[in-house]
Amino acid sequence: MSGYELTLKNKVAIVTGAARGIGREISLVFARAGASVAVVDIDLLAVEEAVKEIKKINRRVLGIKTNVADKEEVDAMVDKVVEKFGTVDILVNNAGKDLPVSLMNLREDGWDKTFDVNVKSCYLCTQAAGKIMVKKKAGSIINIASGAGILADKTHGAYCASKAAVIQLSRAFAAELASDNVRVNCVLPGLIRSRMTQAVHQHDKILKNYVRTTVPLGRIGEPGDIAVPVLFLASEASNYMTGSAMLVDGGSAITGQNHNETANLLSLTGVIPRTRKK
Ligand code: NAI
Repeated sequence: MSGYELTLKNKVAIVTGAARGIGREISLVFARAGASVAVVDIDLLAVEEAVKEIKKINRRVLGIKTNVADKEEVDAMVDKVVEKFGTVDILVNNAGKDLPVSLMNLREDGWDKTFDVNVKSCYLCTQAAGKIMVKKKAGSIINIASGAGILADKTHGAYCASKAAVIQLSRAFAAELASDNVRVNCVLPGLIRSRMTQAVHQHDKILKNYVRTTVPLGRIGEPGDIAVPVLFLASEASNYMTGSAMLVDGGSAITGQNHNETANLLSLTGVIPRTRKK
C-alpha cells in the first residue's frame, strides 16, 4: 500500500456520537475506506439505524450504546470493540453537546454537562483506547473540537470554553503519546448542517445574513466536508501530523466572526425543534 492512499483497509475505528450528523458521516466514509467501525452513541435507536446503513457498505460494523462521559461505560465499550474486532487503530471523539445559554445565565449542571460530554469524554475514550494503541505502537486519534474553540461569542460561552479545552487536551495527549507513535489531532468545524444546527435552518434570513457576513466560501458546511479531512487524519497519509488543529470552516476564522450575525445564529444552535423528536 502506498503511504499516500486514503485507505483504512484492515483498520478498526471507534467513532463516538456516530448515530447521526457528522459522526454518522465519518462512520460511513470510514466504512467505504475499508475500516471495521464501532458506532458509539448514547441514543440506541439512532445507533441501530446507523448500523443498518453502514452494513450496506461494510458488514464489519458494531453498534454500542454508550454514554461517553461515563468511565465504566467507556471501558466496557472499548472491551467490546477489542472482543469483536481484535484491536483499535483509530478513535474519533466526536460526541458533543451545545447549550445555547449565556455564561451569566448558565446553571452549574449545564456547565458540568457541557464539559462532561465535550471534554471528559475525550479524556476517558483516549485513555481507554489509547492503552491498546500504545501497546502496539500505532494509532490515530482525532478530536472534533470547533471554530468556537478559538473564536468566542456571547451566546454559548461554556461550549466555546469546552472546545478550547478539547484543542489543548489534543495537544497534551499528542505530546504524551508521540513517542509511542500514537498521533492525536483535532478538527475545528465551522457551521455544519446537522441536528445540532437544525433550528438554524428554519430561520432562512438569519442563516443567509450569517453566511454573507461570516463565511468567505459562501455556504454552510455539510457533514461530508468534515468526514473527509477526518479520513485524512485517520489514514497513513497524515503520518507526520500530530498535535495539529485543522480548521474546516469555509474560511470563517480568516477574518473572525461578525459579532451580531454570529450571536443571532448561534443562539439557535443546540436547540432541538419540538416538531421533530428523535
Ligand atoms: P449532532 O447533535 O447531530 O450529533 C451528536 C451526537 O452525539 C448525537 O448522535 C448524540 O446522541 C451524541 N451524543 C451526545 N451526548 C452523548 C454522550 N454523552 N454519549 C454518547 N453520545 C452522545 O451534532 P453534530 O453537529 O453532528 O456534532 C458532532 C460534533 O461536531 C460535536 O462535537 C460538535 O460539537 C462538533 N461541531 C459541530 C458543528 C456544527 O455546526 N454542527 C460545528 C463545530 C463543531
